[in-house]
Amino acid sequence: MLRLLVFRKNGQIGWELERSLCVLGQVTALDRRDVDLLQGDLIEECIKRSRPDVIINAAAYTNVDEAESNESLAFAVNAAAPRSMARGASKKLVRCSFTTPLTTCSMVPSRGLGPNMTIRRL
Ligand SMILES: NC(=O)c1ccc[n+]([C@@H]2O[C@H](COP(=O)([O-])OP(=O)(O)OC[C@H]3O[C@@H](n4cnc5c(N)ncnc54)[C@H](OP(=O)(O)O)[C@@H]3O)[C@@H](O)[C@H]2O)c1
Repeated sequence: MLRLLVFRKNGQIGWELERSLCVLGQVTALDRRDVDLLQGDLIEECIKRSRPDVIINAAAYTNVDEAESNESLAFAVNAAAPRSMARGASKKLVRCSFTTPLTTCSMVPSRGLGPNMTIRRL
């Protein structure tokens, strides 16, 4: 059975995904209490432990108005955390900001994350 791991089940997208993806397989949806996205090593450990076939990142710092005054937090959530997910992933990582699923090896410099939030080659 396909195993899907969703980061941040309480956001708008995460909430929908937890419910809609269950037709595809076994969904494990995590919130703040399960893993702190500011700790990259915990993210990688969590992925290695649950060995998902697909990882979906529904977490994002979405407060655009405050992103520039809170740049380090925005960068941590929108760039560093996805980088840790990609490092922990052996198969696919889906980032909701994109319309296209990305393989970990295709996560090269990308557009669409907003200023200062580009994911660089891992
Ligand atoms: N909503 C849409 O229609 C839509 C459409 C296309 C793409 N997207 C993309 O999907 C992604 C999620 O959007 P959304 O609408 O679901 O956003 P949202 O409702 O604001 O949810 C964001 C999630 O990220 C988590 N988060 C935010 N700041 C955090 C922090 N400092 N540390 C840890 N976790 C943090 C939140 O966790 P908590 O629940 O613990 O607060 C929340 O679950 C974004 O990249 C967005 O661009 C959304």
